[in-house]
Amino acid sequence: MSEKISFFVKKYQDRIEGLLPGVFPEDLSSDATVIASMYSLLAGGKRIRPVLMYMIADMLGLDLEVVDDFAVAIEMIHTYSLIHDDLPCMDNDTLRRGKPTCHVANGEAFALLAGDALQNRAFERVFEAVKKYPYAIDAAQYFARNAGIYGMIGGQSIDLSSEGKKIDTNRLCELHEKKTGALINASCLIPYYIYASKNAEDKVLHDLILRFSAGTGLGFQIKDDLLDVQADESILGKSTGKDARDEKSTFVTVFGESNAQKMLDDTYSDVFDALDELKKIGYDVANLRQFSQLLQNRVQ
Ligand code: IPE
Ligand code: IPE
Ligand code: MG
Ligand code: MG
Ligand code: MG
Repeated sequence: MSEKISFFVKKYQDRIEGLLPGVFPEDLSSDATVIASMYSLLAGGKRIRPVLMYMIADMLGLDLEVVDDFAVAIEMIHTYSLIHDDLPCMDNDTLRRGKPTCHVANGEAFALLAGDALQNRAFERVFEAVKKYPYAIDAAQYFARNAGIYGMIGGQSIDLSSEGKKIDTNRLCELHEKKTGALINASCLIPYYIYASKNAEDKVLHDLILRFSAGTGLGFQIKDDLLDVQADESILGKSTGKDARDEKSTFVTVFGESNAQKMLDDTYSDVFDALDELKKIGYDVANLRQFSQLLQNRVQ
């Protein structure tokens, strides 16, 4: 996506790209774990989680500064999840973000430490946010929950324990909702929790943002499953064909490619319905609509 970013995404991508180089203090820049962390963090991910967070913050009329620490932290958690996901003990991958994976370039021990360091430093950033904006405490709690065993880590656990096994549709949805959906839910709902703490709870707004983000998270992983069999490796920036190799349970391995495509389209139609409803109650969803179209049709 980075080469062909549209103007509405570029503003947010530039904002996050400007913040990520400063996540570790200068005096640690020669530390081997910091080098390995920055190797992956600055390798050119799409930054869709920070972009979603900024877009929703804008939609709610928040000052983007209030979510900056959370945007940085979510990208750090996501990057650590990828570093660990690629390790030989997990998916054993050698290509990520168009470069050799963290452990291939830096060794397994430093890849493990890099993931750990990114995670801890992400939580430091969240504490910094709460010190500056005490009303962000609910957002911080949601962040922690969704990164952990109820969220991304829980999903990775189901993913790995389902290798080579048949799982039912509910379990497959739970897998996707946790391993990928949870961080996307955090990206979309953190601005809501900040907004609600400063203003007032708004159940209708909460439920519509959740409906949008749940569809976006599920859709993102179904598309990831499809790209594993459809994409050009040099454009995707990671190896393809690995889900079948590892006997993973994905929408493609369980339902087949054309059913997975249909499920993706159904999921996105709910995403667009949620945006229509948000528009009806007065929110400007034009950027989110364009971004969702981009995600539905992405090739990387
Ligand atoms: C890849 O995420 C892993 C999934 C959760 C599907 P992204 O597709 O967002 O990866 P980057 O950040 O652009 O590398
Ligand atoms: C990983 O899912 C999701 C994470 C939480 C990292 P995948 O294993 O399908 O992601 P890729 O295809 O390696 O990016
Ligand atoms: Mg995996
Ligand atoms: Mg993987
Ligand atoms: Mg995948």
